[in-house]
Amino acid sequence: MKTKIKVHLVSVLALTLAISGCYYDNEEDLYLGSSTCDTTTVTYAASVAPVFAGYCNSCHSGSTASGNIQTDSYASVSANITRIRGAINHQSGFLSMPQGGGSLSPCDLTKIEIWIRKGMLNN
Ligand code: HEC
Repeated sequence: MKTKIKVHLVSVLALTLAISGCYYDNEEDLYLGSSTCDTTTVTYAASVAPVFAGYCNSCHSGSTASGNIQTDSYASVSANITRIRGAINHQSGFLSMPQGGGSLSPCDLTKIEIWIRKGMLNN
């Protein structure tokens, strides 16, 4: 009897985690169209480049760019997008950027993600 209750508790816990996991995903999807983050026109020049200019170019530009990644150059950004995407989203296997802690805002991350998914246009 006792064991049965334990098993129940475990499955209820597992179910709760699974459901809250789903809710989290949904929130993320909703965020892509959220009114607090204007994503109607996402372009490289207006949405992506200014973020890199504000948070990355101080270390990632010119011939001495950290990791040889120049975030002030469209050619370098598009060529290194897998590492950039991993770094700014703090994915495992990548150094977290910006270096020294912190993270880009959810809105900036969303805009960069949209730009990537739309084919990384030089627009
Ligand atoms: C204070 C300096 C600094 C800032 C600001 C900074 N970086 Fe870095 N970044 C570094 C250093 C140092 C490395 C490590 C270079 C090496 O030795 O490989 C690095 C590495 C990286 C890498 C390679 C990560 C990997 O695991 O392959 C990427 C991509 C990157 N940075 C992107 C960015 C982006 C995008 C931003 C802005 C959101 C940013 N960095 C901001 C200093 C900085």
